[in-house]
Amino acid sequence: MKEPATTGDVENGGSKPLNSGGSGSSNHLLVKRVIKVTAFFVGITVLWMFLYNSATPFGFPSISQHFIGVFANEIIDPKLEIVLKNASMVDKTVIITTLNDAWAEPGSIFDLFLESFHKGNETEKLLKHLVVITLDQKAYARCIVLHPYCYQLETKGDNFTNEAFFMTPDYLHMMWRRIKFLGSVLQLGYNFVFTDADIMWFRDPFKEFYKDADFQIACDFFNGNSYDLNNMPNGGFTYVKSSMKTIWFYRFWYASKDAYPKMHDQDVLNKIKKNYLIAIMKLKIRFLSTEYFGGFCEPSKDFNKVSTMHANCCVGLDNKVIDLKILLEDWRKYMALPDKEKQQLKFSWRAPQTCRTSFERSKGRMKNGRRL
Ligand SMILES: *[C@@H]1O[C@H](CO)[C@@H](O)[C@H](O)[C@H]1NC(C)=O
Ligand SMILES: *[C@@H]1O[C@H](CO)[C@@H](O)[C@H](O)[C@H]1NC(C)=O
Ligand SMILES: *[C@@H]1O[C@H](CO)[C@@H](O)[C@H](O)[C@H]1NC(C)=O
Repeated sequence: MKEPATTGDVENGGSKPLNSGGSGSSNHLLVKRVIKVTAFFVGITVLWMFLYNSATPFGFPSISQHFIGVFANEIIDPKLEIVLKNASMVDKTVIITTLNDAWAEPGSIFDLFLESFHKGNETEKLLKHLVVITLDQKAYARCIVLHPYCYQLETKGDNFTNEAFFMTPDYLHMMWRRIKFLGSVLQLGYNFVFTDADIMWFRDPFKEFYKDADFQIACDFFNGNSYDLNNMPNGGFTYVKSSMKTIWFYRFWYASKDAYPKMHDQDVLNKIKKNYLIAIMKLKIRFLSTEYFGGFCEPSKDFNKVSTMHANCCVGLDNKVIDLKILLEDWRKYMALPDKEKQQLKFSWRAPQTCRTSFERSKGRMKNGRRL
């Protein structure tokens, strides 16, 4: 099963086999304990470094160069700073997506992604704030033809040219590279909306974001309470404001990967989201409703409200492309209706179709003990 650069959608099945942590044998319990203890030390270490290195630990104003130097063990490329600056909104916010060759091919995901901005209501203007992070040269070459702000993520020793198969070491590496990268964007003082490219933008999401959250994230399944940490987040869409708290949080998240090897960023997020250090840091996490930020797992039910739709709960690039095209067509039909009819409309999406089939099939396979 081919899976290109995307986040951990629930592509590995609603049952999240990778999440289960252990089957209850004493061996597993021991492993679990070790992991817990390791996670604890990772958290403390990051917290300690954080406090030690910042002059104003719980206040915001200055993020000192010293602090940045200590934390960014990657050197920030001046080219990145220029691209971010050029694409930035007045309040230092950018929209970021990542792209590899498979998704950048003509007629594939990237074309549909850009098309959604043109067809969405008042979303076209947001394109001038979109920064596309390419993971290989071919994706970069295609990006610069279509878009002004492309940035090639130099990854020493990495080679993401080939499609990364879902949950292989390459795939995991790519996902973690992204968390690290987003952490450095925060360190540069930029707020961001991160969006997977298989998310269609139909309305300006800034109108629906919470005003008071540090870190807000879309969900595969939303339980109605935006504060409830039991929601099932999807790392494919996040809105994060740059602050000491969020910089710390991305460090903590990234560092936790060693405590949970073989898990992708989203599963690790589920592991650490209730960590008491987050409460100590007073990081405000909120979950976005699928009513506005829907997906194939749980589609937005109201065309008059929907902001974005994600091709999650879908296995396979070709299936995503087919169903995203259906979404765009449904949206086009909706937009063509007279306003009065729009209001009265009880309309529902015709997708997911092939995505649903692909997903059911993969869940069936997983019940038989096999992963994708
Ligand atoms: C950024 O903007 C400057 C000034 O408008 C321009 O000269 C430069 O080419 C732009 N660079 C990128 C990477 O967008
Ligand atoms: C599009 O946006 C404009 C301006 O916010 C608003 O007046 C209009 O109702 C919107 N149309 C739809 C279909 O959402
Ligand atoms: C990356 O992998 C592709 C395909 O295997 C290969 O053609 C290319 O030369 C590699 N690039 C680098 C920089 O190693």
